[in-house]
Amino acid sequence: MIQWIEICHLQDIPSLGALVVTTDWGNIALFRTASDEVLALDDRCPNRGGPLSQGIVHGKVVTCPLHNRKINLTDGQVLAPDKGCTHSYPVKVIEMDKILLWIPN
Ligand code: FES
Repeated sequence: MIQWIEICHLQDIPSLGALVVTTDWGNIALFRTASDEVLALDDRCPNRGGPLSQGIVHGKVVTCPLHNRKINLTDGQVLAPDKGCTHSYPVKVIEMDKILLWIPN
């Protein structure tokens, strides 16, 4: 079963940064872009497990702080020439800037 869970408000996530949520499936990082879009990935780089939440957000990409691989925030795919993928999660912003995360139950 999958469900939407209220996590936080938009202002709880730093612009061009991330907020980490601890779940039964591991840490999930909620990233906020310059245009206030919120996107969620496992907080674990597919290369060697680096904490993506500590990376640099630019456009809809985060650069891993350990070895600089670039990961697409919309689908978790590592940008070429590197390879790999981390899990992405649907997010929606509802009234009063509440952030909902779609996760398995
Ligand atoms: S751990 Fe992320 S690029 Fe190596």
